[in-house]
Amino acid sequence: MATPQTQSRKSARKTEAAPDAITLLKNDHREVEGWFDEFEETNSGAKKGKLARQICIALKVHTQIEEEIFYPACRAAGVEDDMMDEADVEHDGAKKLIDEIEAGKPGDDHWDARVKVLSEMIKHHVKEEEQRDGMFAKAKKADLDLEELGAQLQARKEELMARM
Ligand SMILES: [Fe+2]
Ligand SMILES: [Fe+2]
Repeated sequence: MATPQTQSRKSARKTEAAPDAITLLKNDHREVEGWFDEFEETNSGAKKGKLARQICIALKVHTQIEEEIFYPACRAAGVEDDMMDEADVEHDGAKKLIDEIEAGKPGDDHWDARVKVLSEMIKHHVKEEEQRDGMFAKAKKADLDLEELGAQLQARKEELMARM
């Protein structure tokens, strides 16, 4: 029987309207891809600098919530460790480039090239996560509460974004 308390908790959760974990992570991927496309299309140094800052912040938050919440949940639910191990290493490679991009600015030697290579690394990594039989597909088949995980990812994302 639903007591008033459980009812209010349910409706509170509904108003938060956090997407499920896979939707949230895929939305992040699409957002960053859009910014990489815009970066590719512009010749304005100021716009490139702004886009690169947005991309770097978004990727730092995204990789952190995956590493803190999503990957461990996948491991605990029996998704093959190899997948998350490889993803961890790819994240580390991306973070090195992100640090270099953030330390530089448009016009610096190799700065554009670093953003370009970061976009290629992320494209590859996102494919590994999203492809058929990839990590997200396995997570969907595993015994995971994707709604609850989505709420956790959303909350942590907001917390980290506020700090950036
Ligand atoms: Fe991801
Ligand atoms: Fe990832």
